Amino acid sequence: MRLAATALGVVLLVTPAWGADDGAPGNRTDDSRMRALAAEAKEKTFTGDAEQGWELFRDKSCLRCHAVWGTGGDVGPDLGRSRTLGHLSAGQLAGMMWNHVPRMWEKMEEGGVRLTAISPEEMSHLFAFLLFIRYAEEPGDPVAGKQVLTTYGCQSCHAIDAEGGHVGPDLAQWSRYVNPVVWAQKMWSHALRMKGTMTQMGMAWPQFSGSDLNNMVAYIRSRTAGEGKEYLEPGSAARGSRLFEARGCASCHKLGESGGVGPDLAGTDLPDTLSGIAARMWNHAPRMLEEAHRQGQGERTESLQAQDMVDIITYLIARRYFLAEGDPKAGWKVFFTKQCVTCHGFDEWGGTIGPKLNPVRGGASPILMAHVMWTYGPKMLAEMAARGIPWPRFEGSEMADLIAFLNEEAQTPQAPSSPASESASESDSRQRSSAPVDRAR
Ligand code: HEC
Ligand code: HEC
Ligand code: HEC
Ligand code: HEC
Repeated sequence: MRLAATALGVVLLVTPAWGADDGAPGNRTDDSRMRALAAEAKEKTFTGDAEQGWELFRDKSCLRCHAVWGTGGDVGPDLGRSRTLGHLSAGQLAGMMWNHVPRMWEKMEEGGVRLTAISPEEMSHLFAFLLFIRYAEEPGDPVAGKQVLTTYGCQSCHAIDAEGGHVGPDLAQWSRYVNPVVWAQKMWSHALRMKGTMTQMGMAWPQFSGSDLNNMVAYIRSRTAGEGKEYLEPGSAARGSRLFEARGCASCHKLGESGGVGPDLAGTDLPDTLSGIAARMWNHAPRMLEEAHRQGQGERTESLQAQDMVDIITYLIARRYFLAEGDPKAGWKVFFTKQCVTCHGFDEWGGTIGPKLNPVRGGASPILMAHVMWTYGPKMLAEMAARGIPWPRFEGSEMADLIAFLNEEAQTPQAPSSPASESASESDSRQRSSAPVDRAR
């Protein structure tokens, strides 16, 4: 890294970016603390627990300002409903939190809400919860659901509360299952026999789209007495990851690469909700299960419990959510244009107002970025205001790109070329910024 920069004739910072004498917050102990923090945040990626996240959401006062599906405060947006972004990654979520922080703190001061620290572990639970409320969906629409059943002719074989066909079982008995995933799982395990009957009756295999499954469950529930309600636990991505292997999915689906018998399920064109993905599994069930039988692993694949299905789907969603990959070159630009470089050193670039960020290399993650923003935000905001630096706003993949840049092994994507930075580093020992910042101003 240093070699590359020198070879290009650019000597940026000669002195270490953090020195004990200039009052900069970084020092050796801080270094290892920051490294440990980053490692902790990264390790927690798949272990976040949505239920604990929900408790934290209340304990940390988020609920005082944010509703979830209509319940809670209305100072900030309803976090269960803001789906404007379509597919969301944890990087985007961390970016959104950064973007909104100045207004959020303003409101906190107005409302007398105290800012409480959030550890990386707690942040991972909050992220799991925020992910959960996005993929779990609100209750469906019974009117649309009735249409789904009619369109697909389910009632020619199934009765609902004794009305309808008797080829298959009465569907009313399942109405206590609120979660569409339970339905998908029941249908999954009966798919081959249902398909057989349908073929005999000359019916095509139904293809669900969007919230069909959700709406259908809402309709059946509305038709039946529906005494009890059984909810599933929020899925566990960690358990789902193990089940993906154990239930044979991994033998046909290679995540993040092609070459499996089935499609790559890490692709972003998969829906973002539990019932959306469950519906896709249903659409493809006949081919998948036939193929699994042919390979002699039908039992392994078919014998999914409802909770297994939730866990596997949660894993698929969480994988895309947390592991959306950024582009380190683009991230390098973000580091300069968002002015992080003005205050933070990284390798040979950057200022000394904040600590040097090298210790996070290899450990940067959305959870860490959200934790840092929450913990140091007020101080950073004050430092920025004092220097007329606007609070950074992240769009699209910028946060993921920045994270990729911070994680990349030392190598210079492209050294900044303006000689102005050399004189700057001579004259200004507190605030060193290199060429791209000057250009960005
Ligand atoms: C005192 C009120 C308040 C508290 C407490 C609060 N927020 Fe916010 N939050 C807001 C406001 C206001 C906005 C919108 C800011 C804007 O429009 O720029 C917001 C925006 C957000 C957004 C972006 C939403 C979107 O759709 O763009 C997220 C995510 C978020 N908050 C998460 C949290 C979490 C997690 C907590 C608890 C740790 C929390 N907030 C606590 C007021 C608050
Ligand atoms: C051609 C007849 C037929 C059609 C049409 C049909 N099914 Fe089925 N269904 C069956 C049969 C037969 C079974 C039982 C299979 C078995 O025992 O393995 C079944 C099983 C089920 C089960 C599992 C019930 C249990 O007791 O575990 C569910 C849920 C289900 N169907 C839902 C649906 C839905 C929703 C539709 C419409 C999209 C539909 N079915 C359309 C014949 C059909
Ligand atoms: C024996 C091979 C095989 C196994 C085992 C298998 N699948 Fe598949 N899967 C396929 C094939 C082939 C397709 C595409 C089928 C088609 O085109 O109709 C598919 C399609 C899918 C789709 C739809 C993808 C899309 O883009 O719409 C999902 C979701 C899925 N599988 C999930 C799973 C899960 C979860 C498991 C484990 C429980 C699993 N599969 C097990 C072969 C398999
Ligand atoms: C105006 C100066 C300033 C800017 C601009 C700035 N920061 Fe900071 N940052 C600070 C200060 C000061 C601290 C330390 C606060 C403390 O120790 O209380 C800090 C702390 C941090 C930490 C935590 C370090 C640790 O020791 O745990 C990270 C990570 C961080 N900032 C990242 C960023 C990123 C990424 C950007 C650009 C989007 C950025 N900062 C922009 C001043 C700034």
